[in-house]
Amino acid sequence: MAPVTSLTASVNARLVDALASTLPEADGVDPLLRRSDRADYQANGILALAKKAKANPRELATQVVSRVESGELIEEIEVSGPGFLNITLTDQAITTNLAQRYADADARLGVPLTEHPGTTVIDYAQPNVAKEMHVGHLRSAVIGDAVVQILEFTGENVIRRHHIGDWGTQFGMLIQYLDEHPHELDHKDAAGDLQASGEAAMSNLDRLYKTARKLFDSDEEFKTRARRRVVDLQAGDPHTLATWQKFVDESKIYFFSVFEKLDMEIRDPDIVGESGYNDMLAETCRLLEEQGVAVRSEGALCVFFDDIKGPDGNPVPLIVQKSDGGYGYAATDLSAIRDRVFNLKANSLLYVVDARQSLHFKMVFETARRAGWLNDEDVKAFQLAFGTVLGKDGKPFKTREGETVRLVDLLDEAIDRATTVVREKAEKVGLTEEEIVENGRYVGVGAVKYADLSTSAVRDYKFDLDQMVSLNGDTSVYLQYAYARIQSILRKAGEARPTAHPELGLAPAERALGLHLDQFGETVAEVAESYEPHKLAAYLFKLATLLTAFYDQCPVLKADTPTQTENRLFLVDLTARTLHRGMALLGIRTPDKL
Ligand code: ARG
Repeated sequence: MAPVTSLTASVNARLVDALASTLPEADGVDPLLRRSDRADYQANGILALAKKAKANPRELATQVVSRVESGELIEEIEVSGPGFLNITLTDQAITTNLAQRYADADARLGVPLTEHPGTTVIDYAQPNVAKEMHVGHLRSAVIGDAVVQILEFTGENVIRRHHIGDWGTQFGMLIQYLDEHPHELDHKDAAGDLQASGEAAMSNLDRLYKTARKLFDSDEEFKTRARRRVVDLQAGDPHTLATWQKFVDESKIYFFSVFEKLDMEIRDPDIVGESGYNDMLAETCRLLEEQGVAVRSEGALCVFFDDIKGPDGNPVPLIVQKSDGGYGYAATDLSAIRDRVFNLKANSLLYVVDARQSLHFKMVFETARRAGWLNDEDVKAFQLAFGTVLGKDGKPFKTREGETVRLVDLLDEAIDRATTVVREKAEKVGLTEEEIVENGRYVGVGAVKYADLSTSAVRDYKFDLDQMVSLNGDTSVYLQYAYARIQSILRKAGEARPTAHPELGLAPAERALGLHLDQFGETVAEVAESYEPHKLAAYLFKLATLLTAFYDQCPVLKADTPTQTENRLFLVDLTARTLHRGMALLGIRTPDKL
């Protein structure tokens, strides 16, 4: 199925032509077309052009209007104010465009693929081995997964990398302890049930971590044995590595159980943790030192920046190798950049990481630029930084006892609340117990994801479950109900089938809905460019709002004529498909009955 040219793009093309034929210097000028409440569109580009050409804007606008080829697309075009254009489309053009989208057999709704796809490596969902996942890991996973879906939908080649924290000195202590207490990671319960095994794995790891830590702090001899283990690990001693692997495997059982609960697909081969770059670290340092990008300072290998200074005014360097020869987080990230650029052939490196790590990435990217691994043209890096999750009180999200909230508890609570909401309406809708449980999960997890995705990522946001599962307002439940309501209408339609009738006139609410449906592709393209999923959420919320206004003004099954019923069924069905597709891009399900 051929992609559909959007109405906006068609109008834009006609304005560009008219401008070019009016004034030679108008060639290539952007007409600045926007949706407007007064007409369907307004174009503001003539003002700047008139200034440049020293012409009277209203006169110039009048000339342009006389040269616009209206055809079957434009119903009316008029000059307004100081030289704006107000443009109204024909009903027929709107319905015909939507009918083409509806006919798209690939369910892309006529949205074209990007003309020049590149390769993006996206670094997201990166928890740490032997540690509980927290709300920050939730944000990275939710935002990252949405960006993956959106980029893939545009045709970009996307490579996922889960840069888990699976390396470092803390493993010496853990490995030594496990060697001395070999049964500490044994599983006693429900094999086969991922959720149960995930919980058991985490509680094993947590217990082991705490006891090992206690011993490490109180027993000097254990401390010495643990330190020796770090050296063995870095030297690649097979027995030490095998024990380390047990921690990684145990943690993965836990990670996968959480990702499954989040209704998110994370694939094992995409998990390339810090350990995966171990073999590259020495060479990375050598390359940086040889090029003079990094210099020795008090024994450490450092990179300095003019604009990065500490509170005392002294420069704060990025340390690539410590004075004891050890490598840290920065050396790993620099090596990962080399791998992603030179082996994976990426054009874009995207990092979905907490804003509190922004200074680290600023320094890492700048270092890589100086080394020639990144530039600002064909190999770019970008941190999609996200803010902190706050509690209802506006302070960082903690339990009443002041501990970080366990991700699993939080999701379970969201699912519980959502299930209550679903159950209240279950009888009316005719849901089985199984459907109630399934929908409760989709609504609960969707609520958490949507709350995260509907505000700009860099902003902190309040985690408020009451608000998240509310049926009114900008929530996923509101969007899910909009979808389910359409499915219910379609089920009740009997003989009447959704069919486009371009010859029918459209009511204002139908036009508004139709014009918004036309903008889905442009919205997705913009979001893929700017990495701002909240703009897709805003688009979908507006779509649901326009649908509500449409129901108020336009009866569907009780329309004036059977033809009108068919046309309205077609409109709502296309709306449902757009909601479904858009929500899927955000990682959120749309149940048929709710
Ligand atoms: N594991 C890190 C954390 O929990 C996040 C890793 C981010 N990615 C990276 N390439 N540094 O904070």
